[in-house]
Amino acid sequence: MQAVSEKTIQQSRSIERIVAGVETSDGAGVTLTRVLHGKLQQRLDPFLMLDAFGSDDPNDYIAGFPDHPHRGFETVTYMLAGRMRHRDSAGHEGLLGDGGVQWMTAGSGVVHSEIPEQEDGVMEGFQLWLNLPAQRKMAEPWYKDFTSESIPEYVTEHGVKVRVIAGESNGVDGVVAREVTEPIYLDVHLPAGAHFSTELPATHNAFIYVYRGRVNVGDELVESQRMGILSNTPSADGISIVALEDARLILVAGKPLGEPIVQYGPFVMNTQTEIHQALDDFRNGRFA
Ligand code: FE2
Repeated sequence: MQAVSEKTIQQSRSIERIVAGVETSDGAGVTLTRVLHGKLQQRLDPFLMLDAFGSDDPNDYIAGFPDHPHRGFETVTYMLAGRMRHRDSAGHEGLLGDGGVQWMTAGSGVVHSEIPEQEDGVMEGFQLWLNLPAQRKMAEPWYKDFTSESIPEYVTEHGVKVRVIAGESNGVDGVVAREVTEPIYLDVHLPAGAHFSTELPATHNAFIYVYRGRVNVGDELVESQRMGILSNTPSADGISIVALEDARLILVAGKPLGEPIVQYGPFVMNTQTEIHQALDDFRNGRFA
């Protein structure tokens, strides 16, 4: 793992709002926490959804997500622990394991399944939905699995370990880069008392989600299982975080599209007409 010196941040963003997720069930009966949902889609444009899942009870996850469609956006699945088998109608198949990432561009449409490949043990991770710009919504579907070993990591002079899934942090590039939305997706592990800072473009909407421990951003406390939406302060050039105890969090940022968001379940388009077209195409087998 490479050692880096943090770049100096002149002014950190602050916490605008703390959000507790909503317990829900999706797929064939998977228990999860929906952290980012419809009401936050405008505020956190280009992100459409964040689900956090984590359980050592197979009843919470074993049913998985049988065949279902998507159109118009990208899904990013980050598995902290567990194994999930993915198959899609475009002929792709892959196994997502501990620390791995699957990045799928649904584009014009895929039908896929996500099924746990374990009968016990811990299943923990996140699924993030990233919107596509209007001109890319009908792009050809694409997908790639990234093993844990292939994800760039660095450690700071304060002992903070950072895994860079997308975008760039302290000079280290992630495995995925995207034009237009320019997403940044980091998994940050902080020892108790450590501080961490990274640059964030002022253009981006951003949030953290703490999944272990507690952190401070400025004077604001963000506890475990909470999302902190970061203020869009034009003069702020990044974020500074202090760990009150051993803590882990994801930091997600992206440039808003500023386009209409029309969602009907697994289809996210710009207009109602496009949603009707998606339903018609799906029902008539015109997805990849
Ligand atoms: Fe899916």
